[in-house]
Amino acid sequence: MADSSYSQKVIDHFTHPRNVGEIKNPDGVGEVGNPMCGDTMRLTIRVDSSDDGGQIREKISDIKFKTFGCAAAIATSSVLTELAKGKELNDAEKITRQDIADELGGLPEIKMHCSNLAADALREAIKDYRSKAR
Ligand code: FES
Repeated sequence: MADSSYSQKVIDHFTHPRNVGEIKNPDGVGEVGNPMCGDTMRLTIRVDSSDDGGQIREKISDIKFKTFGCAAAIATSSVLTELAKGKELNDAEKITRQDIADELGGLPEIKMHCSNLAADALREAIKDYRSKAR
């Protein structure tokens, strides 16, 4: 792949984004803006908790996004929702922008900053959930 071109997977996620929309009465909301370009993302999550022999397990059972941004921002938001769905919160919050880019088969270097939006919005949504759950 040339440095400035998008992978097939980026194009697929941009043209057919997964999990677009907004969860009604979400358990957590993350809203972030990219200071470099002004693009924004709103992420809503549903968290299911279960008691696993005295240990509470909290999993992202549903996740949806609305992103106003470039093709890379939409594709990274879409693939992030796939990566995070079904994960426990402790694992989901460790997803990095590099994980997201890798899952997409790479991003042009100049577009790597776009993947911050998705990773940051997820961490914000988890933080929001935790602040309410206390
Ligand atoms: Fe704004 Fe990509 S240019 S997120």
